Amino acid sequence: MSDQAKTYYLQIFGCQMNERDGETIAGLLESMGYERTEDREIANVIVIDTCSVRENADKRFFGFLGQLKRIRLSRPDVTVAACGCMMQQKHIVDTIKQKYPWVDIVFGTHNIHELPEMLSKVLESKKKIVNVWDEGGEPVEGLPFHRRYAFKAFVSIMYGCNNFCTYCIVPYTRGRERSRKPSEILKEIRELVADGVKEVTLLGQNVNSYKGADDGEEPLTFAGLIRKLSEIEGLERIRFMTSHPKDLSPELIQAYKDCPKLCPHIHLPVQSGSTEILRRMNRRYTKEGYLELVGRLREAVPGIAITTDIIVGFPGETEEDFAETLDLVRKVGYDSAFTFLYSPRKGTPAAEYEEQIPEDVKHERFNRLVDTVNSISVEKNRNCVGKIYPVLAEGPDQEGSALQSGRTPEHKLVNFEAPLSVTGQIVNVEITESNTFSLVGRIVE
Ligand code: 5AD
Ligand code: SF4
Repeated sequence: MSDQAKTYYLQIFGCQMNERDGETIAGLLESMGYERTEDREIANVIVIDTCSVRENADKRFFGFLGQLKRIRLSRPDVTVAACGCMMQQKHIVDTIKQKYPWVDIVFGTHNIHELPEMLSKVLESKKKIVNVWDEGGEPVEGLPFHRRYAFKAFVSIMYGCNNFCTYCIVPYTRGRERSRKPSEILKEIRELVADGVKEVTLLGQNVNSYKGADDGEEPLTFAGLIRKLSEIEGLERIRFMTSHPKDLSPELIQAYKDCPKLCPHIHLPVQSGSTEILRRMNRRYTKEGYLELVGRLREAVPGIAITTDIIVGFPGETEEDFAETLDLVRKVGYDSAFTFLYSPRKGTPAAEYEEQIPEDVKHERFNRLVDTVNSISVEKNRNCVGKIYPVLAEGPDQEGSALQSGRTPEHKLVNFEAPLSVTGQIVNVEITESNTFSLVGRIVE
């Protein structure tokens, strides 16, 4: 890096959607001549991509901004930009304006493509820009991006969500569902594959309701899209997340049977095992309906790994409701689960519900749930010992290390010794040991 190189520091909070947005932000800044730095003390531009879904997201964000104050005030040439779905909430933008007036640019999830223009304007005029869109139009295509991994890639196929689960902020921050055109997705993935990518993960808040259409063509369903992607030569693995149980179609279950590239794993957030709580969450399925769906998946795809998201302590959750969740977890036998303590999000219906659950009760249930989930994961992973899985080797865990990690088709993390030369290849790995969250193995012929 030359002494004069302009640099950027990028802090990403949150989910895979944000990770993917971060690749675009990096690509845009690099197309303007900026180089990435991990040292924010020297960066010329600092971008914070926020998430509003996770626990204590606003505390973490404002804590981070607090740390930047000294840097921004001691080096007035630094530009600080905050973006991402948290910026789509009015009270957050108001707090930034009042308490952190030195933040230069605030933008939303729909207008990432305008970053170069906004940055140039701020550098010219040193005036603050707040540019948050209410609603997204057609997805913007063709933006440069800087990929994080060489052999696997995340590809957004749709944005936004129409479901309005009563606890969730996403429909308010990311707007209504918008599907990308199939031709754009195919083009992006063909280019990725030509560049060495073997595995893609299709991203969207609810990929099952994907409905993308090219001009003058019939809309394509999600299963239809998977079938088209399966035909791409050189693409070896297709994954997706996340999917709403109410929209999981028989056509998608059939696609698992017909498309060997579609990995035998599904992330199927259940949120609660109590039909009454599910009703109040506006999830539009019952405990029995969910279990039946799992039965159909297992029948069609024996050995499919099922993972989930579960919220503990939703308003009004009784001990009986929670017992239903534990029961469902045992009946499904999840390979792993992300567990969340319910936390009210300003502007969502559930935040206004009476009967908010006391924190100590939430924590106590959370601990019991985690114990149950982990004991099943231990069991599931133990069953893998002695079996051989094709694993995409993702490279050494540290430079010079002989230890690589990778994922089985079921998305289980495996650590194994391997020469550098196998990086990026799918190799057969025999599992020799199991832990709660990962496996250990050795390469076999
Ligand atoms: N409180 C706790 N967990 C939440 N999630 C979404 N909103 C909330 C909230 N208000 C969880 C859900 C979702 C995951 C991404 O985050 O389980 O599936
Ligand atoms: Fe949020 Fe529900 Fe949409 Fe998922 S489906 S993003 S939980 S509103």
